[in-house]
Amino acid sequence: MATETPIPGELLNRIAAYARLHLLDTVPSTNDYALNLAGSREPAVVVARQQTRGRGRFRRRWFADEDSLIFSLLIFPAPGAAQASGLTQISGLALCRAIEELTGLKPQIRWPNDIMLQNRKLAGILCEGRRDAVAIGVGVNVNQQSFPDSVPEAGSIRLATGRAWDRIELLERFLADLFRSLDQLRTSGFTGLLDAIKQRSLVINRRVEVRTALRRRVGTVLDLDAEGRIVLRTDSGRLEVLNAGQVRHLR
Ligand code: BTN
Repeated sequence: MATETPIPGELLNRIAAYARLHLLDTVPSTNDYALNLAGSREPAVVVARQQTRGRGRFRRRWFADEDSLIFSLLIFPAPGAAQASGLTQISGLALCRAIEELTGLKPQIRWPNDIMLQNRKLAGILCEGRRDAVAIGVGVNVNQQSFPDSVPEAGSIRLATGRAWDRIELLERFLADLFRSLDQLRTSGFTGLLDAIKQRSLVINRRVEVRTALRRRVGTVLDLDAEGRIVLRTDSGRLEVLNAGQVRHLR
């Protein structure tokens, strides 16, 4: 992959402490590549320079270019330790904290998987499982200075800070934070991480539209429950607990 400079050996060693690193040029999707490594039974992180069939949630195409950081982390969570939406949010938290640590920006989580800064989407996360393996796929807009019209909501870390950043450094910080959280998940469960997730939440107390394949609901998000699902008071007064959907803010 084209990085700013050759990756220092010391940084590579820090990454190798978490997972086997696969640095690739072009793949259809890093999530598929990672899931195909599941038979090796070891955590792996697959970083690509570009994807030809990168996908987002709801089977949408994911825009990425050579200024993006695109990777998938393959892990083997203990049975029941992490359902997909919890893992997505823990990964979102790790990404927010990694971006903040590196750049000073304070991104937030638009439940469950969008990483936002000032109404711009900096990153997206797509967790996909195969048997006991999960690929946490992450696409981050790091060094772009502009975007095509097809992604009007996109923003980048560079546009927000006025300078370029080392993507592999960001990856290492993400892994360090995520593996700390995964330890915490094993020892004290998801609720131990929930407060930090809520502090980064962009949806609590907001009026939103939540779309799923079958339904559209409009209401105010009261809270995240113990499993990270949103608790919505719909405009018609019903309380609904949702574990999936596409959220859009309403005024
Ligand atoms: C979304 O916001 O809809 C999620 C986007 C996830 C994109 C990443 S890029 C790396 C990994 N490989 C994929 O095909 N998708 C994820």
